[in-house]
Amino acid sequence: MVVPIIVRSPAKINVQLSVGPLRADGYHELISVFQAVSLNDVVTASEGSGVSLSMMGEGAESLPVGDTNLAVRAAHALAQYAKVDANVSLHIEKSIPIAGGLAGGSTDAAGTLVACDALWETGLTRDQLAEIGAQLGSDVPFALFGGNAIGRGRGEQIMPVLGRGQFHWVFAFADEGLSTPAVYQQCDRLREADEVPEPYVSDLLVQALRAGDPELLAGALHNDLQPAAISLRPSLRTLLEAGVEYGALAGMVSGSGPTCAFLCRDSEHSIDVAVALTATGMCRTVKRGTGPSPGARIEQ
Ligand code: C5P
Repeated sequence: MVVPIIVRSPAKINVQLSVGPLRADGYHELISVFQAVSLNDVVTASEGSGVSLSMMGEGAESLPVGDTNLAVRAAHALAQYAKVDANVSLHIEKSIPIAGGLAGGSTDAAGTLVACDALWETGLTRDQLAEIGAQLGSDVPFALFGGNAIGRGRGEQIMPVLGRGQFHWVFAFADEGLSTPAVYQQCDRLREADEVPEPYVSDLLVQALRAGDPELLAGALHNDLQPAAISLRPSLRTLLEAGVEYGALAGMVSGSGPTCAFLCRDSEHSIDVAVALTATGMCRTVKRGTGPSPGARIEQ
């Protein structure tokens, strides 16, 4: 009996998300500065016959567990790449909300790639797993590497950014998710009349990550999808304003939303902001976390 492999796989936020022009393949050219944060889904891979999946936790009841699930697709994609039989029983404990702008589905796929690679002893490198992951979703390669990183292309070409220290975040989860394609389409509609420039990395932001300076990072946070997410979900504007009123250094929509991330000075400050936001009753759940966190990794 082979011992089950347990993998923790992180959520991400985009401390910078600059959305360039729409490409011919339907994706947008991006500069995405990712930070992996300490909200994790846990993927367990055990011996099985064929690929099966069960899920528990945050939003699990509303997710498909069949062949359309990104984790199931990840297992099949790895088996095909490594030319092995796809036999695994997968279980995912979800803490990351679905359709929340935190790449929960992508990180489950990344965790599955790492877990199956170990279970099947296929011995692939992270770069090979990232190559498979990029076919599954734009955010999957980053979830394999974690840390702070710049994503180019559609977000799948990853370059690490060295940083110092930990940043403290408060996350506000919404009742209902937002569809990523719908938010990108709304972004296109809002910018229809404008010339959309090629995106570039903010020097100030990279400097803030390198210095581990939350005040500097607060001034450099940027998300081009935020106006689109707010126009589809106007209550997000009030939530963002409330977080700053309660003392957060800055608040932003995470990726395509609707999760909002509030940057705090330190751990104690993040407790104060979390308590105040919880008391407003403006969001379903409030959680605290830190970043950067490691990428998908096997639990010893
Ligand atoms: O790659 P992924 O499947 O995660 O992307 C989900 C959707 O987000 C795409 O179908 C597309 O509508 C949008 N997207 C985009 N440009 C990107 C990444 C995602 O338009 N660079």
